[in-house]
This record gives sequence, C-alpha cells and structure tokens, in this order.
Amino acid sequence: MKTKIDVHDLCKGMYVTELDRPWLGTPFLFQGFEIHTNEELEQLRQLCQYVYVLSGDELARTQAQRSRSGTGAPPTTRTIVAKQLDYAVTETSSRAIPKSGMPPSLYPDQTPVEEELQQAVEVERNARETIYSILDDARLGRSVDTPRAKKVVGQMTESIIRNPDALVWLTHLKKKHEYTALHSLRVCVLALALGRHLGYGPETLNILGIGALLHDIGKLRIPLDILDKPEALTRDEFEIMKQHVPNGLKILESAEGFSAHALEVVGRHHERYNGNGYAFGLSGDTIGEFGLISAIVDTYDAITSDRSYHLSLSAADALKIIYEGREKAYHPWLTEQFIQCMGIFPIGSIVEMSTGSIGVVITANRTRRLRPRVALVLSPEKKPYTPVEIVDLMTLTHDTKGKPVEIKTMLPSGTFGINPTDYIPIQHH
Ligand SMILES: [Fe+2]
Repeated sequence: MKTKIDVHDLCKGMYVTELDRPWLGTPFLFQGFEIHTNEELEQLRQLCQYVYVLSGDELARTQAQRSRSGTGAPPTTRTIVAKQLDYAVTETSSRAIPKSGMPPSLYPDQTPVEEELQQAVEVERNARETIYSILDDARLGRSVDTPRAKKVVGQMTESIIRNPDALVWLTHLKKKHEYTALHSLRVCVLALALGRHLGYGPETLNILGIGALLHDIGKLRIPLDILDKPEALTRDEFEIMKQHVPNGLKILESAEGFSAHALEVVGRHHERYNGNGYAFGLSGDTIGEFGLISAIVDTYDAITSDRSYHLSLSAADALKIIYEGREKAYHPWLTEQFIQCMGIFPIGSIVEMSTGSIGVVITANRTRRLRPRVALVLSPEKKPYTPVEIVDLMTLTHDTKGKPVEIKTMLPSGTFGINPTDYIPIQHH
C-alpha cells in the first residue's frame, strides 16, 4: 500500500514511489527511490507538496525482492538518482568525490599505441556503425539496442584500458557533418579515458561509457534548424534545445538493461557545478561524479570541434578554457584530473622544440608528462622532414651537440598548415 504524505513529514529511509508532479521535471532520474540524504529530503521539499511512500510491509517486500533479483531495483519502479543505488559500483557516484590528491593508477599501458591502433580502428568503426544505427532506431521510434551498445562499449573499454592513446587519437579524425553521432562517440572515448585515469574498474567504465555514448540521444527530437543554427539561439530556441535532456531520458526509459548510473550521464551532462546548468539546476557534488565528468568531456569535445557556429580550438586552448571554468562550471578536482589525463601536451598538439624543429605530439607519456613522443615534421629551417622523424623525449634528452631537447612551446592548431591527424602512427586509416 502506498501512503500519501506531506513532504515535511518525510524522513530518511522512506521509499518514495510517486510525486505530486511528473518525474521528468525533477532531478530524480527514475520513479521510486529510497531517501538516503538530507539533500534529497531538501530537494523533495522544494519540488513537491506531497509524495506517496510505500508502507512498512510493502517496503520490506520490495527490499526482499531487490535482494532476490539481485538487480538492485524493484521490478516495476526502476530506480533512481545516482547516489542511492546499491549497485556493484563503488568507485563512482556513490562515493564522495575527492577534493585533492591523485587517483590510484590501476592500469599500466599494456600495448604500444602503434599496436593498439590496429585494434582500435576496428573498434572505432564498429562503434560508429552502432551509434548510427541506434540513432536511426531512435529516430524511427524503435527502442535502443542496448545489448549491441553494451558490446561495443565493452570493446572500447578494453582498448582504453590497454592503451587510451589509440582511441583518443581516432577522436581527432573529426568531420563537420554528422555531429551528434561522432560527438557521442568522442565523448564516450574521453569519458572512458578519464575514468581509466580515475582508477575505475572495467564494470564502472562500461556503465560510464554507455551513458556517454547515448548522452545526446534526445537531440533526435530537436529540429535541425535549431541544432545547426549558425547564430546564437533565441531564448525560445534554447528552451527547445534544453529539451534534449528529458527527451533522452524518455527514450532510454524504454530501453532494457540501461542502468541508472548510465542515465546520470544523459540526465546531467548539462548541469554545472555552480548550479547554472540545466535541466534540473543541480549544483556541487549532488550532480554526481558521472554527471560532473560528462559536463567536462562534453564541453571539451564541443569546443575542439568545428561547428556551424564556431571553429575548433586546439586541445590546449580547450583545456585552458575548462581550467578557467573550474569551481564555476566544472568540478575543480575532476577538471584537474582531466587535464592530467589529457596531458600537458595533448596528443595531436603542434609543438615547437628547443632545437627549432616543429613536431606533433603522437603519444602521451603518462609518467613524465613533459616528455611525450613527438613526430618531427619540420626542420629548424622549417623544411619538411621526409620521412617524418619520431623522437621519444624520454630517451632523447640531448642533441648531438649536448644541448637539451625539450618542448619549447605549443603552437595554435593549423600552424604551418600542419594537420596532426596526418601523423597518427598507423599505416592505414
Ligand atoms: Fe547535450
């Protein structure tokens, strides 16, 4: 039996099954959840006048059902807000996000990037086909093929764990068209790379990854003239644009096997740390670690991509913008970790060496961030090297005259007409 109750009479431990307003307009991702924190009590009191809760018997029955089914959610009232899940996810949204310090480094690189790229190319192609087909399905009103999406995200996770540089390299192959599909893919790769850096286990990475892959699925219901409008959106148009978040949640509600943690990415990637985001106006750690991560990687990819309304920024400039937005738009510690993870000299950056040569950063060095591997493209006299010379700054520390060799400065994208993707260390792509 459910009981109608005034929000002021609510307390922790109660299981809310219904609100006095539609769930979609609230920060709670799914219908039915147990109140665990004062913040949730506060949110309910702000949003509602009364709610329905399960009576003691019903609650006990539901809990018994949950532990029997092992799904962590009652069968008819799929759960909830990220923080309260009794998922087998311990390192993510259910934890307090650290304020400082380094995450555990769980994963030594297992393959060199050249080797990983051979597999990553296949994985990326498969992922691209999958996201196109999922978006087509959603466009036609068909439900999301969750098993297919999970399979491909699993492959991406494995590649990222072996060596994240390969898939990150492939995200540099940008096309202006088909933005939503390819953006989704890149946000997935970036979220996985950051998750790996944060020391998430494979299971957690898979959940983060599938949310990231489908984070913008609700854009399918937004008119193209708004999505691709070159000028700034009007107030009304922006209101329509914002709807892609609840739209996405709605589309995924009907998908089987889609976890609430993954939905946190879909529902909260436009929330901002200071509360200035949408769709729910959450702030601080309440947004959840997955929500906060997706805000960072989504913005990073958007500003490093060519769009109808702006040209892309270099990785370094994008990182600088995000860094300036820490505390305000983005979680400060997660911002720092993202920058750590992308490297001081992100893959694909054009750099000038202390020798005067010009190069492209081709792989990160996760332990010595100032000393990545660089493909030297132009000589000190700015003449092309043919073939391109690859130097590993870990081993090459001094030139033949005994002068130190290091990166002097990073150059803006497009300098000397260099297209970094020409130097992906792979033979066929
Ligand atoms: Fe979005």
